[in-house]
Amino acid sequence: MLATKEAIEQRRSIRKFKPDPVPQDQINALLDSARLAPSACNAQPWRFKIVQDEATRRRLAQAAFNQSFIAGAPVIFVCCVDINGYLDGSVSGTQDLGKIKAVDEHVVEVVLDRINNVSKMDFEEIGIRIALNAAIAIEHIALRALDFGLGACWVRLFDERKIKNIFAWGKNISVVALLPTGYPAEFPPPRNRLSLNDILIN
Ligand SMILES: Cc1cc2nc3c(=O)[nH]c(=O)nc-3n(C[C@H](O)[C@H](O)[C@H](O)COP(=O)(O)O)c2cc1C
Repeated sequence: MLATKEAIEQRRSIRKFKPDPVPQDQINALLDSARLAPSACNAQPWRFKIVQDEATRRRLAQAAFNQSFIAGAPVIFVCCVDINGYLDGSVSGTQDLGKIKAVDEHVVEVVLDRINNVSKMDFEEIGIRIALNAAIAIEHIALRALDFGLGACWVRLFDERKIKNIFAWGKNISVVALLPTGYPAEFPPPRNRLSLNDILIN
């Protein structure tokens, strides 16, 4: 198993995959790493649809402005947030955090008040606000994939309505990213990064 440092350094966006299927126990291990991610109020709003059949993979690639490499991945994680799940989960999660005294009582009140305000926003806005929770879980998947010799690529360039149509999802589901995943058929060198100095604000 890789150390965290190695996984972070070795990860690349992979856009060419071998056709070999990914075993179910590896898919489960990746989902388990998502499950363990931190989230605001411990609401855990992430939800995943696992797509392996070729016809749906092609439809997802089409919905992603014909980024054809997506269909070539043996498994695609369609990474979403469930807004109803978030609203329920954040109330109970905040109360749980209060009970175990992880946060002060007055913080519980502030958070519950905020959640009450958020619940009045439209679903699209809530989806955007809570997407960062799913982003953490998705990156857990992308990094854990390396332990199985798997590679993945974040995909955000898509028409969300088209993806939701494929699965007939309602307004409570917001699609955060696609994560086509499989055994790499390419081993790209590291991509350019800013220096440490570049990322510091003086
Ligand atoms: C939020 C996000 C959205 C991205 N969307 C796409 C995408 O739609 N298509 C694609 O080919 N790559 C996409 N990428 C991959 C980036 O292009 C890639 O991470 C970046 O070029 C750095 O390369 P590396 O991941 O190999 O280090 C996305 C990455 C992130 C984090």
